[in-house]
Amino acid sequence: MKIKKICVLGAGIMGAGIAQAAAQAGFDVSIRDIEDRFVENGMASIKSNLDRAVSKGKLEKDEADKIMGRIKGTIDLKEAAQNADMVIEAIIEVMAIKKQVYKELDTICKKETIFASNTSGLSITAIASFTQRPGQVIGMHFFNPVPVMKLVELIKGFFTTDETLGIAQAFVEKIKKTAIEVQEAPGFVVNRILCPMINEAVFVLAEGIADAKDIDDGMTLGANHPIGPLALADMVGLDTILFVLEGFHKELGEDKYRPAPLLRKMVRAGYLGRKSGKGFYDYTK
Ligand code: CAA
Repeated sequence: MKIKKICVLGAGIMGAGIAQAAAQAGFDVSIRDIEDRFVENGMASIKSNLDRAVSKGKLEKDEADKIMGRIKGTIDLKEAAQNADMVIEAIIEVMAIKKQVYKELDTICKKETIFASNTSGLSITAIASFTQRPGQVIGMHFFNPVPVMKLVELIKGFFTTDETLGIAQAFVEKIKKTAIEVQEAPGFVVNRILCPMINEAVFVLAEGIADAKDIDDGMTLGANHPIGPLALADMVGLDTILFVLEGFHKELGEDKYRPAPLLRKMVRAGYLGRKSGKGFYDYTK
């Protein structure tokens, strides 16, 4: 099947990044969120990324306008999804909400449409079970910030067909990213390794072994990471990291995955990282 029109559900950090990557590769994109202000924020973040590329001389103004012109924001699910060849879902990580959305999508979309979920922690097999097209449901996990990060994990659920995988691989290639094929498992590949490292950094902080900056300097200068684990947690969102770790702990049942109490405390306090203004660092100044 030839993929031409993409529908992105969710205009948050990930959804906006995915919409931008798809539009830059020439796809027609509709981006849908539940409130106008979320759609507007998503569109504004795409515009600001493109404006920055223009001001750096990396993109022609004309081309930036064309890319923006390919993206249509809406709060209407039917309008966004009915002609899409592929729906990429990047909504809140609450299974009950996803269930409702997938059930609705299944009735709105063409029968050939592929459903790809950007979930970082939920089961693709479970998501597929909400639809009448389980073979056409796949995990398509992007990394933050999407416009910069080259990797996409393609996750095969229990029912995902090789044909669906092939279509997803071709799409990832078209948006100039690299796909790795992953079998369904908690955290897939990258988060399975990355999130326990971030959690360990939070334990190191909570135990008073070093302060946040020194922990991050340790890992950037001593292990050549582009950004320290605590700064990365702030970038990804502490609530997302906690959600992923809780999933590991529940599914894999091992103590090594237990979230650091300090991480829980910060999430309860609303210290979610960059998106809330404060996390391990203060972004309000
Ligand atoms: N959106 C778009 N572009 C961005 C961006 C954003 N949010 N942040 C940075 N960039 C671009 C900059 O414009 C710049 O572009 P040019 O090279 O074209 O000028 C480039 O990225 C480098 O940016 P900076 O020089 O400002 O900063 P940097 O060198 O520190 O790089 C970074 C920023 C690429 C984000 C780097 O810090 C990095 O690689 N961090 C690690 C990111 C990472 O590990 N992500 C995975 C998170 S896990 C995840 O997402 C999965 C999950 O489910 C939890």
